[in-house]
Amino acid sequence: MEAGGLDSDGRQFNNAEEMWREEVGDHPKKTEWYHKGVGYWEGVDASVDGVLGGYGHVNEPDIKSSEAFLNTLLDDRFPSGEGNWHLVALDCGVGIGRVTKNLLIRYFNEVDLLEPVSHFLEAARENLSPDNLIVLDSHKASNFYCVPLQEFTPDAGRYDVIWVQWCIGHLTDDDFVSFFKRAKDGLKPGGLFVLKENIARTGFVLDKEDRSITRSDLYFKELFDCCRLHIYKSKDQKGFPEELFQVKIYALTPDLAKRVNRTRPKAQTNRPGIIR
Ligand SMILES: C[S@@+](CC[C@H](N)C(=O)[O-])C[C@H]1O[C@@H](n2cnc3c(N)ncnc32)[C@H](O)[C@@H]1O
Repeated sequence: MEAGGLDSDGRQFNNAEEMWREEVGDHPKKTEWYHKGVGYWEGVDASVDGVLGGYGHVNEPDIKSSEAFLNTLLDDRFPSGEGNWHLVALDCGVGIGRVTKNLLIRYFNEVDLLEPVSHFLEAARENLSPDNLIVLDSHKASNFYCVPLQEFTPDAGRYDVIWVQWCIGHLTDDDFVSFFKRAKDGLKPGGLFVLKENIARTGFVLDKEDRSITRSDLYFKELFDCCRLHIYKSKDQKGFPEELFQVKIYALTPDLAKRVNRTRPKAQTNRPGIIR
């Protein structure tokens, strides 16, 4: 990524390489980067407000617009009239299981959850226990993995959708690319990644507090190319408070792009975040 960026203290970087060299240049620094990222979340309340950085009220518009997007994907890929699908999803960096509970569990027969922070994952387990769910018996949370994405390899061919929301900013570019390359094998034929993230206006913004990076749309597209992933569809989130970063949802396919939804260019960390 050639464009420059900023950190949350206002420091400017000429390009992403310069920032990564400083932040994770050698092995101990990289370990510290991930340690501090998880350490930040270990100090956060296991609540919707906690995982959404104090913006619990964006839960509703977030889920509503993700649901509309997911429905278009399911209609395209798994039409209900055509087959008896047993749909399986992986939800990554789940926090307390907000996205699975409010959305994925209603559409997928099984959802596996990955989250490196144990008190969040325990809250997710509780939130998704059969006693606390109002879904059909044929829908359940199956596996709970307490590991970070950079260390996870999904079982081959298990998932129809791998959902990654508001957590990929914790991964360095190298780990971003190797995660998606590995995780492709975890998709069933025709399966998709869904990535929903904050978007920087240009370049990147580094959050020194939780050790995460908000990338621009162009930055993401460069990384998708490195992963050999194609944008199948994308959409801008609407209805969030003005002071937050723009949010975009991408559906990505390892197959040749069959459809690209171009969104109009718009003026303008890792959770809904105030633009600093
Ligand atoms: C802003 S919260 C989002 C939680 C959830 N995706 C949601 O939308 O409600 C960010 C989550 O990323 C998790 N996280 C931090 N580092 C991670 C890593 N290396 N791999 C996977 N998840 C990570 C945090 O523990 C936290 O639960």
